[in-house]
Amino acid sequence: KRIVVLISGSGSNLQAIIDATQSGRINGDVVAVLSNKADVFGLERAANANIATEVLNHKAFDSRESFDAAMMQLIDGHTPDLIVLAGFMRILTPEFVRHYEGRMLNIHPSLLPKYKGLHTHQRALDAGDTEHGCTVHFVTEELDGGPSLVQGRVSIDPDDSSESLQQKVHVREHQIYPLAVEWFCAERASWSSEGVVFDGQVA
Ligand code: GRF
Repeated sequence: KRIVVLISGSGSNLQAIIDATQSGRINGDVVAVLSNKADVFGLERAANANIATEVLNHKAFDSRESFDAAMMQLIDGHTPDLIVLAGFMRILTPEFVRHYEGRMLNIHPSLLPKYKGLHTHQRALDAGDTEHGCTVHFVTEELDGGPSLVQGRVSIDPDDSSESLQQKVHVREHQIYPLAVEWFCAERASWSSEGVVFDGQVA
């Protein structure tokens, strides 16, 4: 399968996915990495793995629609089977999301449906939760709202800060994102209007 990864930052999840394609665990290749920011470490990771990189600065566009249209054109030039959002910090238009329906995944740093949006680690702490984590889900038009494929859990200890929690969650992210991509590429997991289909059954 042909995978295009969208990033805005350090790309540690991108790295975990690249590693899993190189080891043969994922039946696919990252064929391109697109960032909305130049000079992010994720682009270096891609270049180090000889993966094509694209930078599209959202600030150079006068609307979300025109930015997303330009992204679609770039992405589709790589004829992807799967789009992976890995720390891509832009809200996507309904047109973009519909165009990749059923073939776009995101990772969110909370146990969805809890804590959609930003500052998830602090919100889990403020709520006095004893457990936190991350979720890989198919992307639908509802922000952080598409059907979940897999979750990773961590316990919250009394001395945890938002930073320590973020680190713990990142470890889990690097486990579950390659796993979800592995399932998708092996055609074990897919999206349907009824939710995630796993090994032929609506999960
Ligand atoms: C992760 O925490 C992910 O959950 C969130 O953005 C972060 C990306 O980190 N959506 P990295 O760029 O993969 O290191």
